[in-house]
Amino acid sequence: MRVAIVGATGAVGHELLRVLESSTLKFGELQLYASPRSAGVKLPFGGQELTVQATPEGAINADLILASAGGSISKEKAPAWVAGGAVVIDNSSAFRYEPDVPLVVPEVNGEAALRHKGIIANPNCTTAVAVVAVAPLHREFGVRRMIVSTYQATSGAGQKGIKELLDQTRVVLGGGEAGAEVFAHPIPFNVIPHIDAFQENGYTKEEMKVVWETRKILGDDSLKISCTAVRIPTLRTHSEAITLELERPATPEQARKLLGRAAGVEVRDDPGAKLYPMPLTASGKYDVEVGRIRSSLVFEGGLDLFVAGDQLLKGAALNAVQIAEYLQEQGALKGRVAG
Ligand code: A2P
Repeated sequence: MRVAIVGATGAVGHELLRVLESSTLKFGELQLYASPRSAGVKLPFGGQELTVQATPEGAINADLILASAGGSISKEKAPAWVAGGAVVIDNSSAFRYEPDVPLVVPEVNGEAALRHKGIIANPNCTTAVAVVAVAPLHREFGVRRMIVSTYQATSGAGQKGIKELLDQTRVVLGGGEAGAEVFAHPIPFNVIPHIDAFQENGYTKEEMKVVWETRKILGDDSLKISCTAVRIPTLRTHSEAITLELERPATPEQARKLLGRAAGVEVRDDPGAKLYPMPLTASGKYDVEVGRIRSSLVFEGGLDLFVAGDQLLKGAALNAVQIAEYLQEQGALKGRVAG
């Protein structure tokens, strides 16, 4: 089986290479693509150096394409990749809301991936992190309403987001005044309640992605969801405060027990020992940390929790590779399987 990464030089591309190195996915060849600017760049993979090529105009000679070069590239090129016979797992938002494109988090709705027509969408990073924690609670107790406040890392805006935080922090520490290009305002020592474009209803597109995508992944359009998405000056891992109103009452103990058995979750919840989810501990980890689980003071029988998940991993690269692993396990990926 031949695998290609489009956007291999980006923040998510970098993680895709690392995740593939330790993945159970069996493949014989890995091709790397990015913009023409990166043609010839060498990236390490499995003890070798692979050369990045400019993304071609038409089809790519691969069985599986992991795309992470942004929505406009995916929109423009994915149809040709599919026509050329590849299965595309797309990290952008280009196809997520199309009815015949499955939006997949394998622990939650893996079987939806089997119904693809060439393209499978990887969810928005904030949504992927949230649903890993919320889906088991939804299955057991029935979520009726969900209120989310996010604390999102600068790498959510790619390599350029990471660079702006580091560069502008140095400017401030040097006594200068920080500027902003990637973010709407200077990010050092600030929090910015503005991610993606404002919509007519006053919410941002990032906030509405959480609403639309959580409903699609959980397969429940009746879910009432509201989100406030905030950029904070961290490098990686998105954290989220989540309040749930439930159809059937849950105690924090029941929730802890249930989440302790859930795939993709690490319960980190011992406040007395200063143990709770944080970017510091969740970064680089495959599991999403869940803690601060307590009874809601607003919704009787409901829950408040705090989650922290490495959005470059579970919110992007890891989830994409897990979708591919799932398809291969189900015998649903074409190509010659090596080794
Ligand atoms: P490049 O590094 O050559 O610009 P990030 O999300 O970190 O900003 O990364 C975006 C990824 O998308 C990078 O790998 C980038 O490559 C790639 N990319 C940007 N523009 C194009 C393009 N026109 N064709 C193919 N890949 C692109």
